[in-house]
Amino acid sequence: MKRALVTGSSGLVGSAAVAHFDRLGWRVHGIDNNLRRDFFGPDGDTARNLERLRRDTRQFEHLSLDVRDREAISAIVERVRPDLVVHCAAQPSHDLARARVFDDFDINAVGTLNLLEAVRQSCRETPFVFMSTNKVYGDAPNEKPFRETATRFDFARREDRHGIDESCQVDRCLHSMFGVSKLAADVLVQEYGRYFDIPTVCFRAGCLTGSAHAGAELHGFLAYLARAILEGRQYRIYGYGGKQVRDNLHADDVCLAFEAFAAAPRVGAVYNMGGGRENSISVLEAITRLEELTGRRLHTTQVDEPRRGDHICYISDLRRFKADYPVWTPTRDLDDILKELVARP
Ligand SMILES: NC(=O)c1ccc[n+]([C@@H]2O[C@H](COP(=O)([O-])OP(=O)(O)OC[C@H]3O[C@@H](n4cnc5c(N)ncnc54)[C@H](O)[C@@H]3O)[C@@H](O)[C@H]2O)c1
Repeated sequence: MKRALVTGSSGLVGSAAVAHFDRLGWRVHGIDNNLRRDFFGPDGDTARNLERLRRDTRQFEHLSLDVRDREAISAIVERVRPDLVVHCAAQPSHDLARARVFDDFDINAVGTLNLLEAVRQSCRETPFVFMSTNKVYGDAPNEKPFRETATRFDFARREDRHGIDESCQVDRCLHSMFGVSKLAADVLVQEYGRYFDIPTVCFRAGCLTGSAHAGAELHGFLAYLARAILEGRQYRIYGYGGKQVRDNLHADDVCLAFEAFAAAPRVGAVYNMGGGRENSISVLEAITRLEELTGRRLHTTQVDEPRRGDHICYISDLRRFKADYPVWTPTRDLDDILKELVARP
């Protein structure tokens, strides 16, 4: 029986990965210490996902470990000797990172190094999947020329229509502390590929979502928006008049990308990963559609100042991943995703 080791296994992407590989008949070992609750308070609590996984999976072992605990991580990798590592544990918030600089870097950068080195010591043939982020590009995507419509910003030039590709610069721009810690991890993952010849991949993700997301104001764009509408919360729109655009991908579709990579791994691979243009939406457009779906009105406050380093329009160019893994294509369109988010209990 194949074995997967998933970190951040109670979070959005990690819990989807546990369920996905369990369905495929793998034994899955998950590492998560619910630090998301510490980051974001009760909104971020992932205990509900862990309960669901314990109830619904067949071959799942939960380990309440911290990826910063180098000895424990090394021991567990040595014991499990996984056939696949999916590393999703993170401090995931662009904005929170400034208040938790050491936690952010220790978890995102050093935690990733702990896992990489453990894999090198115990199972260097094992494909290593790292959930990176589009924030590694800092605010460089904002240098593109934009046009403004009634509801969104979009790229002005035809050649930018497919969105941001992997050649986008990663330095000489503003990142946020989160962008820096993730970029450090991203480069480490590439280096363990190129230098040590381990099959590693960085998926630089746009917005990922699904009903398993413990949406909080500081992380989880659509999940938090749906929560705000359903619970009658005041929603703050930060800058750009709500016309900033994100592409959104369901966590289950991210898992299909993991599966495709695991079946045909490469060394030191880097791919942008997201919903692409079809699954792109602005804050204003998302509010309108969620209001239609729920029949409720969202109470909003406009904050003039955008989030520091926030993208004006970000759409992942998926052509490189699709060319290397033609088997992969997103299965959930944006409306499916929005319906799922407002249908949750
Ligand atoms: N959700 C998105 O929109 C998005 C976008 C781009 C990149 N990503 C990346 O994808 C990955 C997964 O994101 P997500 O949305 O599932 O986040 P999430 O917060 O839902 O899941 C991360 C999980 O990791 C756990 N965790 C945090 N620190 C830990 C530690 N030190 N030790 C053990 N567990 C720890 C948390 O408790 C949480 O359950 C992250 O690396 C994130 O940066 C996410």
